[in-house]
Amino acid sequence: MIIGNWKMHKTSGEARQFIHSLIPFIQNISTSVFLAVPFTAISSCVEAAEGLKLIIGAQNMHDADEGAFTGEISASMLKEAGASFVILGHSERRQLFYETDAFINRKVRSALQSGLQPIVCIGETQEERALGKTQEVLTRQLKDSLFGLDLTRVVVAYEPIWAIGTGQAATPAIAQTVHAFIREPLPKKNIIISAGSVNPGNLTALLSEPDINGALVGGASLNVEDFAQLITLRNSL
Ligand code: PGA
Repeated sequence: MIIGNWKMHKTSGEARQFIHSLIPFIQNISTSVFLAVPFTAISSCVEAAEGLKLIIGAQNMHDADEGAFTGEISASMLKEAGASFVILGHSERRQLFYETDAFINRKVRSALQSGLQPIVCIGETQEERALGKTQEVLTRQLKDSLFGLDLTRVVVAYEPIWAIGTGQAATPAIAQTVHAFIREPLPKKNIIISAGSVNPGNLTALLSEPDINGALVGGASLNVEDFAQLITLRNSL
């Protein structure tokens, strides 16, 4: 599973243009690729992706169906715009917008109820890793954000915060160790993907690890050449 996460990049027009340029590279792929785009670009991307193995999703949402939550968006709004999945609990949401595991838990529940595939992000900071707290942090995030939910329906993304946007991806060995740890309490078949400076240079090595089932890609999903290369590499495995 390769998911591009555009974060706060691209207007709806730029997004449509991106997808048109991507078409030659995804016409013959065997499995779908995923793109998490800004809210305003969801419908235009869904339209542009029609007939292609390209699935469009969102990067966040609120857990309530509707209400007085200025600036927020609900699962049903995303669904109607055409989103199929939603990234929840990204470290940027946790750190910059103070999202807690309890809030993320409610969002995951709402996504599942609405038929949106949740991609739940967990990950430790550099400091937590240095203090030997990686497993403790991940266990807490996993437990609290998924408490009471149907675990078989959740995709987990391991995103070590020290690797995001830094160019310092986790080595395949480090990522594999953590993925194996994350997998233990989850149903065997769950998809666990890796994030943090994944690019065409390190994707193949990451995906050759037994417990790494894909990648959540930020920076390298923003230009067609890199994203196409990632897709081609994944497709050739
Ligand atoms: P990056 O971002 O690939 O730019 O490190 C990954 C993410 O935050 O999803």
